[in-house]
Amino acid sequence: RKKEPLMIMISGAPASGKGTQCELITQKYGLVHIAAGDLLRAEIAAGSENGKQAKEYMDKGKLVPNEIVVTMVKERLNGPDSREKGWLLDGYPRSSSQAIALKEFGFQPDLFILLEVPEEILVERVVGRRLDPITGKIYHLKYSPPETEEIASRVTQRFDDTEEKVKLRLQTHHQNVEAVLSMYEDITVKVNGSGSKQEVFAQIDGALTQIIEQKQEKLGTV
Ligand code: AP5
Repeated sequence: RKKEPLMIMISGAPASGKGTQCELITQKYGLVHIAAGDLLRAEIAAGSENGKQAKEYMDKGKLVPNEIVVTMVKERLNGPDSREKGWLLDGYPRSSSQAIALKEFGFQPDLFILLEVPEEILVERVVGRRLDPITGKIYHLKYSPPETEEIASRVTQRFDDTEEKVKLRLQTHHQNVEAVLSMYEDITVKVNGSGSKQEVFAQIDGALTQIIEQKQEKLGTV
């Protein structure tokens, strides 16, 4: 059977569960997870000039300038693994200029997933979030606590995960979300992101199954 790799975008407010769902999606579908925020945090950790500049914006909950972000994401999308396995783009594009740049580079997704979560839940998710620096896994002190004492003792918190900073990140999100959505309207699926992580995944899984069937039909192999 001929196979064409899936190209998926996932978007939603800060702490709406993008990273968490991406773990579940990549486990099942084997896509390459490309997260703009993770790429930026890797630059910061590496101490690069781009990382230093990016941190200033991230500290204020603002979008990092396109000069830094656009090339970084494009290179990952163009990587041989993304081309072969398909990709799952997380937290990108976040502005109409980023969406336009992607289109110009020829990247058009099969599906745009929007996670919808009420604001009062988002703040609680942000302040309780913890990350395992070794595995990169995302935890929450209340909703998804570390499995072992050893992991619990090493988890860290993101520098922008304070109540004050998430409010700024939310503002930025509200300023940009409509412009991005309007560019992908015809391929958008809205997912209720306020249930448990498995409930949310069930909705996404259903949408992905459908898209795969449609792609197969288009290829004329069914
Ligand atoms: P980024 O790292 O992308 O942050 P974000 O968009 O604010 O999203 P988060 O990573 O905070 O949340 P998430 O949706 O992945 O939620 P998670 O699954 O972890 O961006 C950071 C910064 O980088 C930006 O502010 C900006 O400065 C810059 N940047 C990034 N992209 C950019 C771009 N394209 N252009 C310019 N600048 C850019 O879940 C959160 C918590 O909730 C976890 O603890 C999790 O365990 C828990 N949780 C998840 N799902 C559930 C559930 N269903 N039930 C209960 N708890 C849950």
